[in-house]
Amino acid sequence: MAAKKLLILPGDGIGVEVMVQVRRIIEWMAKRRNVAFDLSEGLIGGSAYDVHGTPLADETLADAMAADAVLLGAVGGPKWDNLPFQDKPERGLLKIRKEMGLFANLRPATVLDALADASTLKAEVVTGLDIMILRELTGGLYFGEPRGIETLPNGDRKGFNTLVYTTPEIVRIGRVAFDLARKRSKRLCSVDKANVLECTVLWREEMIKLQQTEYPDVELTHMYVDNAAMQLVRNPKQFDVMVTENMFGDILSDCAAMLTGSLGMLPSASLGAADADGKRRALYEPVHGSAPDIAGKDMANPLATIMSFAMCLRYSFNMDEDAELIEAAVKNVLKGGLRTGDIMQPGKAKVSTTVMGEAIVRELDKLK
Ligand code: IPM
Ligand code: MG
Repeated sequence: MAAKKLLILPGDGIGVEVMVQVRRIIEWMAKRRNVAFDLSEGLIGGSAYDVHGTPLADETLADAMAADAVLLGAVGGPKWDNLPFQDKPERGLLKIRKEMGLFANLRPATVLDALADASTLKAEVVTGLDIMILRELTGGLYFGEPRGIETLPNGDRKGFNTLVYTTPEIVRIGRVAFDLARKRSKRLCSVDKANVLECTVLWREEMIKLQQTEYPDVELTHMYVDNAAMQLVRNPKQFDVMVTENMFGDILSDCAAMLTGSLGMLPSASLGAADADGKRRALYEPVHGSAPDIAGKDMANPLATIMSFAMCLRYSFNMDEDAELIEAAVKNVLKGGLRTGDIMQPGKAKVSTTVMGEAIVRELDKLK
């Protein structure tokens, strides 16, 4: 089998620390499961700006294009807050998503039994929760043109962005959503703002057409985004797969993350279109950011990144068994009572990023 080419982009802040723990697991896999990865590492975000004067160098992008999968930590931090807009760390992340064509962002929110009490919501509201938010990632308000800040003739300033989707963009994310729903409970909720925004009127029409022509076996419902935000905290278990516009998905996925106890628990996969061999460009990253307030303190929760690596094994390399092994190790370590600060609960043992990573590897040894 050809070596699996994996590009690691730790990024900034806690991205660097959590990626060290993922490397431990990759080493473990090479040693104990005989799965070798062809690893390389690069810079993205502020750390790339410091070295290359740009948050994503062309060579790094070329490496990402040539890799079978990219693992990313997080980008951003106060150090780079005052850079010109186009040099900001976040531009590197948005550029790599766009250039790699990663239009489908899978953000699963599952509540592990051991963490049902860690949520700020009542345990009965979140116990057993298992939903999938599918966020469109290369279009919508994040990328629409025209955009900018202009000075008007009278001296007033105007800031503007454009919410735009074409039918092919809606249909391709729609198909990913319906396919996901088909593999799960066959229920899909499309989230829009069709009472106000024409762009999402089209979104809704296309989703309905797709359901009627290609997915009659999947039940499709629609919800306005404000109501969806409310329903996510009121009764999240009513949902299974949700599909939505880029910015709506950004907001709803942070909201869903807190249902699971912490932003530190949410992995994600960003996938491109399948080529003739069914292969997709792919990038895996935790939903959380670079958390500058705790960066460098060995306090961050590495589990979202570790579970993002599990998603990588599942979606890029068809290694479901290994993905499940990692997920089982995470569950067991939490059951055993270890917690990073973000998910700390009374009576549990508060541990560092490093200790959490080591515990996962020890658990993998046991499970194997
Ligand atoms: C996310 C993040 C990014 C986004 C930022 C860092 C640009 O919030 O992945 O959800 O808005 O997409
Ligand atoms: Mg976000």
